[in-house]
Amino acid sequence: MTADAIAMDGKVAIITGGAGGIGEATARLLTARGARVALADIAVARATALAAQLPGAIAVPLDLADEASIQAMVGQVVAHFGRLDVLHNNAALLGPEVARNDGDVERMDTDLWDRTYAVNVRGTMMACRAALPALRESRGCIVNTVSNLALQGHLIQAAYSSSKAAVIQLTRAIAASHGRAGVRCNAVAPGMTMTPALREAFPPALRQLVEDETLRDRLGEPEDIAEAVAFLASDAARNITGQVLVCDGGSASHVPGLAGFRAFLGEEPA
Ligand SMILES: NC(=O)c1ccc[n+]([C@@H]2O[C@H](COP(=O)([O-])OP(=O)(O)OC[C@H]3O[C@@H](n4cnc5c(N)ncnc54)[C@H](O)[C@@H]3O)[C@@H](O)[C@H]2O)c1
Repeated sequence: MTADAIAMDGKVAIITGGAGGIGEATARLLTARGARVALADIAVARATALAAQLPGAIAVPLDLADEASIQAMVGQVVAHFGRLDVLHNNAALLGPEVARNDGDVERMDTDLWDRTYAVNVRGTMMACRAALPALRESRGCIVNTVSNLALQGHLIQAAYSSSKAAVIQLTRAIAASHGRAGVRCNAVAPGMTMTPALREAFPPALRQLVEDETLRDRLGEPEDIAEAVAFLASDAARNITGQVLVCDGGSASHVPGLAGFRAFLGEEPA
């Protein structure tokens, strides 16, 4: 890979959820590589404060649950920069209240299910739809953020994980329909990633369970995901489309129960 291939000079990128932990790291990396970014977020004050720190960046209000807001956001970005090269669908319905109430289907709050799908699936689809004309013109690309929870069953977060699985299939559908027109569409699947919000909210005992299953000696950082997004958004990934790049320290790559096997074999956890 040459430095030229990963450069983003002259490119314009929308980052939905750009004011969040992974969104901020991605915005900083894309900007450092020469892109001008639009931070599209429901948290307008945070997006505005971050945009002020990044050369050429703007903040744009966005509510992914509202189609008019999505169309206005894309329109505003294209009017401001005159082009669009990358749509990074990074925003999702998250937070402690959401995580607490999203469990097994038998005790699923149907309203939470609907809100999750409205933002994560419907909102992502509508953002793609709104951005595609400009992306066709620039022969640009889409990078959707999903999750390694979309790849395996779990006791928790049935709404969140299945919504992210839907986005994986949406990724492939868009890649298939728009590849010949020059638009690539890929997904990045993070594992647990230590954003400021998660560092604060995640119970240490649960964090330890996740650490025990990672193949590396640490959990992911927002900058790890930013690197994967920046790669897929760059010309270095020009022949990659319809793919899911799992960026979880190998957590989803092995047979279950690694921590138990380590103990059985008498190995110290790394
Ligand atoms: N952090 C992790 O461990 C982890 C793991 C797997 C996947 N992910 C995925 O990475 C992405 C970023 O997550 P994060 O950890 O940085 O979360 P975060 O909460 O720090 O950021 C999410 C951002 O999305 C914005 N947002 C929420 N609802 C919105 C809406 N309706 N319209 C517009 N913006 C909205 C929030 O304001 C926030 O700025 C998400 O798609 C998440 O599912 C994160």
